[in-house]
Amino acid sequence: MTITIQRTTSPKAKPESESALGFGKIFTDHMFIMDYSTEKGWYDPRIVPYGPLLLDPSTTVLHYGQTIFEGLKAYRTVDDEILLFRPEKNMERINVSNERLCIPPIDVDFGVAALKEFVGVERDWVPSSEGTSLYLRPFIIATDPFLGVHPSHTYQFIIIASPSGQYYPEGVNPVKIWVENKYVRAVKGGIGCSKTAGNYAASLKAQQEAQDAKYTQVLWLDGVERKNIEEVGTMNVFFVIGGEVITPALQGSILPGITRMSVIELLRSQGMTVTERVISIQEVYDAHKAGRLDEAFGTGTAAVISPIGELNWGGDKIVINGNQTGKIAQETYNTITGLQSGRLADTFGWTTKV
Ligand code: COI
Repeated sequence: MTITIQRTTSPKAKPESESALGFGKIFTDHMFIMDYSTEKGWYDPRIVPYGPLLLDPSTTVLHYGQTIFEGLKAYRTVDDEILLFRPEKNMERINVSNERLCIPPIDVDFGVAALKEFVGVERDWVPSSEGTSLYLRPFIIATDPFLGVHPSHTYQFIIIASPSGQYYPEGVNPVKIWVENKYVRAVKGGIGCSKTAGNYAASLKAQQEAQDAKYTQVLWLDGVERKNIEEVGTMNVFFVIGGEVITPALQGSILPGITRMSVIELLRSQGMTVTERVISIQEVYDAHKAGRLDEAFGTGTAAVISPIGELNWGGDKIVINGNQTGKIAQETYNTITGLQSGRLADTFGWTTKV
């Protein structure tokens, strides 16, 4: 399939300062769109000027949330090259989410090619300062104008881009996390391991209450017993206990993060023991009491590596590593961002040039 390109005739002004970008507030000049119908399959891939979508008010996605999304970043190297980090993993994960949401699969190689073509068009929007990147948001929406509950017959696959800096206002400093024991995000057999809007809608109330209590995010516990640790909505989580790195096993209700996967592979390649297993919040608190909880951190595309400085579980607060960024979190951050931005040689073959 050939991607047609219609360039904007009125390019926007680029952000004046890269230091104040924040996350997801500014959008580039163009977007990628491709349509799907049962008869034609995926067709008409095109890059067009960025702008509003025209949707019938009865459109399936608006009512029943049949949609999936991805998040990845393009980085500018010191040599002015543009790199993508493991884009094929995002395209593979789209199909995992698609399968659960009854959305037809996309061709992974074509998806990566579309990303590259799009980022090539938006090249000048990729920021260069440390900690910045062009955040890419591919997503698919169900577009049938019909109020019956059923999988749509038509879809749009869209990619938009946003020059971004840190996701959390804390930047790379430790965040305070509220351990959620009232609301739940997902259960096995549900949609928790798919990257779909419903999971984020389910998180809003808890996040609002946590923020009212001056916490940055919530740590979700399993939806049945509210005992075992799952994830932080925008991040997967890691705990370092007595030198062992532990992260909750993927058991169907947790998002299989690409940064999570990369951190596991990286730490193992450095000879560290990384265990994917069930870990309860009680175990973390017990380890803290015994002086064995060395550090905790979250991993995600938007958040990168985010140290966790404090947990509050039902009013019982623990401060981790003196609210300082731990050694493993710092070194992992340096290596992952070094690889992503081309500052470190990519011995893993994780980056792709645009
Ligand atoms: C990401 O890290 O890319 C995410 O999708 C998390 C969040 C911004 C929703």
